[in-house]
Amino acid sequence: MARTLRDLPADLAGKRALVRVDYNVPLDAGQVADATRIEASLPTLRWLLRRDARPVLLSHLGRPAGRPNPALSLKPVASALADLLGSEVLFSAPCDGKDALRASRELRSGQVLLLENTRFLPGETANDEALAGRLARLGDFFVNDAFGTLHRAHASTTGVPARLNPAAAGLLVEREVEALGALDRPRRPFVVAFGGAKIADKIELMRRFVERADLILVGGAMANTFLRAQGIETGASLVEEAALDLARSILSAGEERIRLPTDVIVVDRSSGAGESVADVRVDAIEPGMAALDIGPESRGRYAEALRGCAAFFWNGPMGLFEDPRFAAGTLAIAEAAAEVTATGGFTVIGGGDSAAAIRRAGLLDHVSHVCTGGGAALEYLSSGRLPGLDVLVERRRP
Ligand code: 3PG
Repeated sequence: MARTLRDLPADLAGKRALVRVDYNVPLDAGQVADATRIEASLPTLRWLLRRDARPVLLSHLGRPAGRPNPALSLKPVASALADLLGSEVLFSAPCDGKDALRASRELRSGQVLLLENTRFLPGETANDEALAGRLARLGDFFVNDAFGTLHRAHASTTGVPARLNPAAAGLLVEREVEALGALDRPRRPFVVAFGGAKIADKIELMRRFVERADLILVGGAMANTFLRAQGIETGASLVEEAALDLARSILSAGEERIRLPTDVIVVDRSSGAGESVADVRVDAIEPGMAALDIGPESRGRYAEALRGCAAFFWNGPMGLFEDPRFAAGTLAIAEAAAEVTATGGFTVIGGGDSAAAIRRAGLLDHVSHVCTGGGAALEYLSSGRLPGLDVLVERRRP
């Protein structure tokens, strides 16, 4: 296990704690639309403030490709954090340079400093050495509590802890890794559900689950890609063309363990008389139809497959659940997950969209663990490794 807050020196009073948090949160009209990730960082920040350490926070927001983008500024997050934490939160832009350094040194006891989006600088995602060196000067020790970003080897996640000692995992990272560790040697049957639209990001990881899981339930745009790979006409549905070969190889490695929808809810915009919504069998999808949810038969099959499972990991919604017409498949999985938990199974929800679906279903407290980062959870479960965590293990003790 990586070093934790308890491995840090006992006296942290007056020391600047450079903390990598994951404040990659949805914004709506310049306001934080979902504060889950901010709330998840509070225990570590409170732990540091209680010891009179001075937290200096680094985070990314979105994918601004190395250029400042006012729509992705972390400024709105500073006021949301101040309200939730009940402490004064100062903000400084950019995240490196003279002003950031001065702000970190002038930070007073009880205050927190949030720095501007690290991805406004091109060196962040390139893990540029010079940038990592400049960021490392902003703290006297380092804490990584950005679970959702641990799978990225960026300047603020792996570059800084390679230069700033001591470095430790925060309380959120510790809690997440502990929960996912329970799925490392899962109780059986172990069922996994994959959905969502980020197919390119996930399909390679899914291949690794073919050997680990007893059953894989597939929905969302991921399912469309597998159906197309089987030669089924998917009409106007979202399909990741570049992933078709990979989907075929996954099917040939474990077809008997992979469940695909047999019916889907489609929207048909081809008639010219507005759009119509219907449940169709997957072999009856017409060119103008786009599949946006799994259908009732598939919902029933998936819920049945989950009955009696001992461990369940879910990443990605079964459809466009933000629209009530296409939410039933995702809600059915949320309800089945709660049922698994109620009957003694261990259930982990990985990722923002699946977590939002569980919350919408009012079942957030009816699953064993909700991860704050889907990509990181998938990476850890499939490979057992996360670059941002490994760097906290491999470094010598302070
Ligand atoms: C996430 O939202 O999954 C994390 O914040 C990582 O973001 P990224 O996929 O843009 O690196």
